[in-house]
Amino acid sequence: MLTLIDDRDLARTLRADVLAGLTVTPKWLPPRWFYDARGSELFEEITRLPEYYPTRAERAVLAGHAPAIARITEAKCLVELGSGSSEKTRLLLDAMLRRGTLGSFVPLDVSASALTAAVGELTAAYPELTVTGVVGDFARHLAYLPEGDSRVVAFLGGTIGNLTPPERTAFLTALRGALHEGEWLLLGADLVKDPAVLVPAYDDAAGVTAEFNRNVLRVINRELGADFDPAAFEHVALWDAGHEWIEMRLRSSRDQVVRIPELDLTVPFAAGEEMRTEISAKFRRAGLAAELAAAGFTLRHWWTDPDGRFGVALAQAG
Ligand code: AVJ
Repeated sequence: MLTLIDDRDLARTLRADVLAGLTVTPKWLPPRWFYDARGSELFEEITRLPEYYPTRAERAVLAGHAPAIARITEAKCLVELGSGSSEKTRLLLDAMLRRGTLGSFVPLDVSASALTAAVGELTAAYPELTVTGVVGDFARHLAYLPEGDSRVVAFLGGTIGNLTPPERTAFLTALRGALHEGEWLLLGADLVKDPAVLVPAYDDAAGVTAEFNRNVLRVINRELGADFDPAAFEHVALWDAGHEWIEMRLRSSRDQVVRIPELDLTVPFAAGEEMRTEISAKFRRAGLAAELAAAGFTLRHWWTDPDGRFGVALAQAG
């Protein structure tokens, strides 16, 4: 296992993010802090909700097209960014191993605990594969990916939607810089669709997404000694038609003051004040192809699930 971020690093980044986001108007927090152990479990629960279609739709695409992806790329090394539990990745690993080209798998994730578990399971399931976990941040550590040739970098689940357009440009450009001409990016992207389908996916009837959203407050309480009352914040999910993204917010249900001792900070919230906790951008094929081209990738293949809800792009560095 290669460790590019440790607990002190994470703590420093959290402090900087909270300080930056809670001392401006409107307030905001980056979505990466949802994912402590409880947040990761809540996200797994989200992926099984009837309203949350992206995981199932992407799995359908990969189940149908993994053999084609293996044939086209002739991958020797599969890198997965933000791999989490690496569950859907098995479809790719199976196809690439059957094809006979694959020798190594490199999952990269910020969560050392999730990664350790995934590496253990994958090593047991695929004894013929060299599995090297990298504890790192896909937005910062692309230059440290293991060298190789015929690499395929998978960035699945629609996580690219968490980035703002300028962040996406920076990410895709950095990724292109880390790859050799001819290597591949396999990118999963949720697609623009009727808000009547999109909004419930982020505001489910069982309230799991609401708990996931409030979990960021629990993380800040634990890590920075803050006294957020999660019950005093309401979950908000809205479709921003101009930006074509879902925005999640937490709305203060009353006037309140939150203390964050580790930052020597006191944060006032007005009744009804909303704090942004996540954007989840939705894509169109043409727009994504243009963003890829601007970063030096050529879109070679594009697949969607039968209902056209979720797209998987196979793009080549060139
Ligand atoms: C893990 C970023 C792909 O944006 O759909 C799910 C996170 N947030 N429900 C997404 C999420 C609320 C998810 N990603």
